[in-house]
Amino acid sequence: PDTLRGAGALINLPIGSALTPQDIEQWPSISGGQFSVVTGANAMKWQTVEPNAPGVYDWTDADQLVAFAKQNGQLVRGHTLLWHNQLPNWLVNGFDAGTISKNQLWGLLEKHIFTELGRYRGKIWQWDVANEFFTDASPSGIDPTNWWITALGESVIPQAFRWAHEADPHALLFYNDYNITGEDGTNAKFTAVSTWVQQQRDKGVPIHGVGTQAHLDTQYGFDPQRFQSDLESYGKLGLRIAITEADVRTNVNNATDQVPTDSLAQFAQPFEYSAMLQAAISVPEVISFTVWGWTDYDSWVPSTFSGEGYACIYDVNQQPKQAYYSLLKDLQLA
Ligand code: G3I
Repeated sequence: PDTLRGAGALINLPIGSALTPQDIEQWPSISGGQFSVVTGANAMKWQTVEPNAPGVYDWTDADQLVAFAKQNGQLVRGHTLLWHNQLPNWLVNGFDAGTISKNQLWGLLEKHIFTELGRYRGKIWQWDVANEFFTDASPSGIDPTNWWITALGESVIPQAFRWAHEADPHALLFYNDYNITGEDGTNAKFTAVSTWVQQQRDKGVPIHGVGTQAHLDTQYGFDPQRFQSDLESYGKLGLRIAITEADVRTNVNNATDQVPTDSLAQFAQPFEYSAMLQAAISVPEVISFTVWGWTDYDSWVPSTFSGEGYACIYDVNQQPKQAYYSLLKDLQLA
């Protein structure tokens, strides 16, 4: 097979991408043809689905994603229900100003989870229920300054998993975070997350898997062995694992062309993508490998890290890069 999804299918590893509405509308053949699982880059976040007022929903982007996936025989990863970012202003400001009480906030969260999971019940393979709760510090732990934690306390996380499981019993429920597979160079966050997930599961909280975002930077050391051994460790806990947001950014000349300033990035990037995929292939508990956008054209990187980019497997003109061919070859040879 000469597509990522075709080659991945032969080894039962769904290959995925985050998609924006533009990816779907302008480049349906790549968005539909190369991937067998899709995630909304923003489509299913609370701010997107209930932007302006409680109970006033906008499912345009989420419906578009789910319909596109159906049309193309793709699975869907839902992303994400409980996160401190991209929340509706009415929610955050209302609670912070005291016009939404703590009890009302619990109720709004419950309603959010049941409404969204209910709308797409049976159509979502994996849900990123909770996202980015742990600190990068060593030792790491749940961030006490996280908006949800200050608002409702740590029990908000297990409660979200319980509601999600009730709302869609067949969806696989994930805890998703970054720097949890050795990217931080210390494994502090890996240790904290794996310990916490284990404790929650011992208490019966329905957490089925861990999503490692895997946002790499060619300027940091990346340790493929540690990446793989961390995946193996999650697997030994009985967890499924998803690579949920892979990309490999580097310094670039400018945000428009996204040409790496260091020509060695042209070698480091495909190497790091390939090392992640090979680790994913070799650990049986890894059930999907998703990149966070396939084209540099609408990658999240340049607007977040000034002076960086070139993070995706296709360039700004939607041409496949060496990283794409490396992934394809890894799958074909697996
Ligand atoms: O919706 C507004 C739009 O109305 C406005 O015209 C436009 C002008 O800038 O902004 C739009 O919002 C942007 C939104 O993406 C939708 O395009 C926000 O400014 C922008 O900050 C937001 O960025 C998203 C980012 O999450 C927010 O943290 C990225 O697209 C999205 O790829 C990124 O994804 C996250 C994952 O969910 C979690 N892990 C990290 C990852 C990268 O940050």
